[in-house]
Amino acid sequence: MKFLSLSLLALTVAPYISSVSAAEAGKLGFALGNQNPDGSCKKTADYKKELAIIGTRGKHIRMYTATECGDLNELLPALKGTDFKVLLGVWPTGHIQYTQDSKFEAEKEALKKALPKYGFENIMGITVGSEHMYRKELKGDKLSKNIEEVRKIVRAVKGGENIPVGTADSWNKWVEGDAEPAIVGSDIVLANAFSYWQGQKMNNATQSYYDDIMQALNRVQTVKKDQPFEFWVGETGWPSKGKAFEDGAPGSVENQRKYWKEAICSMLNWGINIFVFEAFDEDWKPAEKDNSVEKHWGVWNLDGTEKFDMSC
Ligand SMILES: *[C@@H]1O[C@H](CO)[C@@H](O)[C@H](O)[C@H]1NC(C)=O
Repeated sequence: MKFLSLSLLALTVAPYISSVSAAEAGKLGFALGNQNPDGSCKKTADYKKELAIIGTRGKHIRMYTATECGDLNELLPALKGTDFKVLLGVWPTGHIQYTQDSKFEAEKEALKKALPKYGFENIMGITVGSEHMYRKELKGDKLSKNIEEVRKIVRAVKGGENIPVGTADSWNKWVEGDAEPAIVGSDIVLANAFSYWQGQKMNNATQSYYDDIMQALNRVQTVKKDQPFEFWVGETGWPSKGKAFEDGAPGSVENQRKYWKEAICSMLNWGINIFVFEAFDEDWKPAEKDNSVEKHWGVWNLDGTEKFDMSC
């Protein structure tokens, strides 16, 4: 059953793999929060410690905002002189103390200051927003305009001529009609997919994940036609602790390990780039609906040991 479905997927994905990424394995990256376990903002020294750990498995990291914890000014100095590449994030809507417009303005200002200061040596691209269509905070056309505003800022800085700018959203939003302007407007597209949040059991988790990502990729390819674009899984993973969502499998290290080996390793081997959600647990995150699962998506323990053997 599994092999049959994978070979059907092979037919679907083969043109993409052969034309875009040859037979090379995909790149493995990690989503990184900007807060320490106690909720304090990460400083340059905190990032340096974490990068030393992450670097044993990957050289790509993904961030979400530019200003919330002084992100750019704390992270970018930590990357200087390393071979890490970061996918920076710009948050285009209101959050915490900001109204919608002032937040985006503050994020763009931070970018304008940081890019000339730190250069692009450690920057692989920039996303504008994360699951903003999924949360119905922005429609595709507005998001596309926001992406274009950020692209103008990036292009105006020396070295930023070819840096991809795009967005990240849940796989199902990429499949829906209103995403089209955001696809057209993105040089880099990230699709998130969590079999855990779809209430899947372990025996169907990999298949469900493949199905999600292939649907998103197919839609993006269809809209892009022969325009080049970069594609990544923006977030995926399994929690190491926490109650099951709906009828699915619960969080456990064994389920996290199984999902890693079956879903993540195999898709990397197919040549698809993946940001795993996420590098480290976020203990400061509150429980929701009596489930503390949001704290437990990290693949490393806070002492730097792996929760399970992460080799593929
Ligand atoms: C297994 O995953 C496939 C692909 O997402 C889905 O169509 C199917 O409904 C899932 N099966 C179960 C029992 O949830």
